[in-house]
Amino acid sequence: MAPGTPDGRGFWDRVFRGLADAEERFRERLAEAPPPSQQLVIGFLGAEGRPLRVLEIGCGTGTLALRLAREGHRVTAVDISEEAVGFARRLAAGLAAVTFEVAGADRLPYADASFEAVVAAKVLDHLDRAGLERAAAEIRRVLAPGGAFLATFDPPLQEVPGAYCEPEDGTRVYAEGEYEGMVWRPVSDDELRRLFAWGEQLELETTADGERRLGGRRPGG
Ligand SMILES: C[S@@+](CC[C@H](N)C(=O)[O-])C[C@H]1O[C@@H](n2cnc3c(N)ncnc32)[C@H](O)[C@@H]1O
Repeated sequence: MAPGTPDGRGFWDRVFRGLADAEERFRERLAEAPPPSQQLVIGFLGAEGRPLRVLEIGCGTGTLALRLAREGHRVTAVDISEEAVGFARRLAAGLAAVTFEVAGADRLPYADASFEAVVAAKVLDHLDRAGLERAAAEIRRVLAPGGAFLATFDPPLQEVPGAYCEPEDGTRVYAEGEYEGMVWRPVSDDELRRLFAWGEQLELETTADGERRLGGRRPGG
């Protein structure tokens, strides 16, 4: 993040601390069909037809990572929030072999070309502009040649209530209420296309409910 812009981890820690009693509910959900946005990721990676080394960025509760591991992929999942990672590790116990680690999207602690797929579900709009630029470069760096990436984005949070301050790059940092400490920056389609222009087969699709999906592949496979 740019100097002085918070990274939002305090907000996310609060969110995931609030789920401390919800482990059983999430465990039960894992036995059900995945929600459509997870289904999309599972199908996209499943189409490769072989187990992949997958990195998930901003894994939250870890349900997508766990589902991908159950599909046979070797999954490493990171999140900036220690509370999220703690929750995900507890949820994973006895379910699947996944590694969960605390790390920011813009500084991935992995060697170049470590993964055949990178997934970022609903996280890249929670970085400021400098952070997103670095995250896009990090995704490219850790992807093996020919590797696939997939990002999904929630519908724009324009209506999220509460006062916020807005540094020059258009990042909202919420200052009060339920969303205090949340960092959110609307990312345009053009910006996404530019940031991920290094990927072949770049697709940008917007669903009827405003959710966006971006998929691509690092050249050289
Ligand atoms: C909207 S939630 C999405 C969680 C999960 N991917 C999902 O689809 O349910 C955003 C997640 O991104 C994480 N996050 C926010 N900023 C991050 C950053 N800079 N690096 C890594 N993770 C981040 C948050 O802790 C949170 O778990």
